[in-house]
Amino acid sequence: MNTLKGFNMTKEMRVFAFDFNGPAHLSAGTWRHPKDRGGEYKSLGYWVEYAKLLEAACFDGIFFADNDGYHETYKGSVNDSLKDAAQIPANDPSYLIPAMAAVTKNLSFGVTSSTAYDAPYKLARKFSTLDHLTDGRVGWNVVTSYTNSAARNIAGLEAAEAHDDRYARAEEFITVAMKLWETSWDEDAVLRDASTSTYVDPSRVHNIEHQGEHFSVPGIHLCEPSPQRTPVIFQAGGSPRGVALAAKTAEAVFLNAMTKEALKKQVDGLKAKALEFGRNPENIATLQMITVISAATDEEAQAKYEEYLKLVSYDGAMARYSSWAGVDLSAFDPDVPLKDIDTNAGQTMLNFFLKMDPSKDWTTRDIAEYIGIGGTSPVIVGGPETCADELISWMEQTGASGFNLANAIKFQDIKDFAEFVVPELQRRGAMRTSFAGSTLRETLFGEGNARLPLDHPGAALNQQTTAQAS
Ligand SMILES: Cc1cc2nc3c(=O)[nH]c(=O)nc-3n(C[C@H](O)[C@H](O)[C@H](O)COP(=O)(O)O)c2cc1C
Repeated sequence: MNTLKGFNMTKEMRVFAFDFNGPAHLSAGTWRHPKDRGGEYKSLGYWVEYAKLLEAACFDGIFFADNDGYHETYKGSVNDSLKDAAQIPANDPSYLIPAMAAVTKNLSFGVTSSTAYDAPYKLARKFSTLDHLTDGRVGWNVVTSYTNSAARNIAGLEAAEAHDDRYARAEEFITVAMKLWETSWDEDAVLRDASTSTYVDPSRVHNIEHQGEHFSVPGIHLCEPSPQRTPVIFQAGGSPRGVALAAKTAEAVFLNAMTKEALKKQVDGLKAKALEFGRNPENIATLQMITVISAATDEEAQAKYEEYLKLVSYDGAMARYSSWAGVDLSAFDPDVPLKDIDTNAGQTMLNFFLKMDPSKDWTTRDIAEYIGIGGTSPVIVGGPETCADELISWMEQTGASGFNLANAIKFQDIKDFAEFVVPELQRRGAMRTSFAGSTLRETLFGEGNARLPLDHPGAALNQQTTAQAS
């Protein structure tokens, strides 16, 4: 245990970089900063350099958000999203993973993939392939697709399906994928035995025979077992249905609270729910989304933050937030407090922000300023000691396992974090200085834990099959 500056650290924080395979993600307008490198997103060289930086700084991984639609709620159009690169253009992140894995040994990769319009059979194959090529360093962030543009362009629907229906489909989707990963191929199915001319022993590969409400998958998985079999399952839904799905199936959950009090409630709520499903809450990592603007001193960091704030685009922020919230905020006067606006939409917005910070008279301009830097994540600004104090305090006061680091200036903010904050966290024993295991599951839960823990429903499927086979 390290006792430095009054901290009794027994816990290392998990740290992921939060990114997007496009020029801009959560922050609005800051891509115009001369040091922003978002425009290089089309270059493999850029991502390879980034992977090396993250591994050298002992990040646990990089987590890629993704959308299969675009934001068009604000003013009923995609125009402001296009003007500010609000998650568009958006390339597919999965193609980056093998290149980033090839230049690293321990860095892990979270990839977002939706259950709304994909087939579990195809997704299971994609993630088995990635798990093989990364030596088990991959995770799947399960999302359910909230944009109507995805529903229209992919499925020919007018709008996204109802919220709870999307979650019902997601739950069955995960079950099918886990059956393919965990039960279809026995551990010793691949013989590669020239003497008997047998590459795979057919008796050790099983049909999954899944017949459900949304999917019928009778056959076998296309891939042999990968190092983790099931990729680490991430989830980020905050609704009761989303939390229930996370408590049942997720191994890492992205949380997004504006205050420590709100985060503690979310962490406690999730863990209590996991217990209800018979799972050990310790087997779920909780990662708070956060943005850190750091420099050598507090003053320099503050100056940097103020420079960033000047770049925030009101329309860019509103283009993102209107879509996330499902409400067109263009009709609101930017300077009239939401509490004075008597519409259902206004009340929804008000409730969201009031719940998080009741002390403020929120206007849409305040919201734009807040989310312009790092989306809805809190922002920490400071030199090494201030940032380390604050990050440690977020963990100690909430029970969270670590952070998902958003950025305002692509590449540069994470490079600053690696230069200024990581050494201070490491000095205090709050961040790793080397890697323990090789797979993502071991990075999160310790060496020897490459496979799903026994209390996970996926492992239970595997045990059932083993019992049937013997
Ligand atoms: C930190 C964080 C990251 C998210 N990343 C994505 C993403 O990459 N793609 C996506 O479609 N949804 C993403 N979401 C949205 C959630 O997956 C979910 O669809 C949304 O929160 C609505 O679900 P809910 O009603 O259960 O809260 C993210 C949410 C959070 C909090």
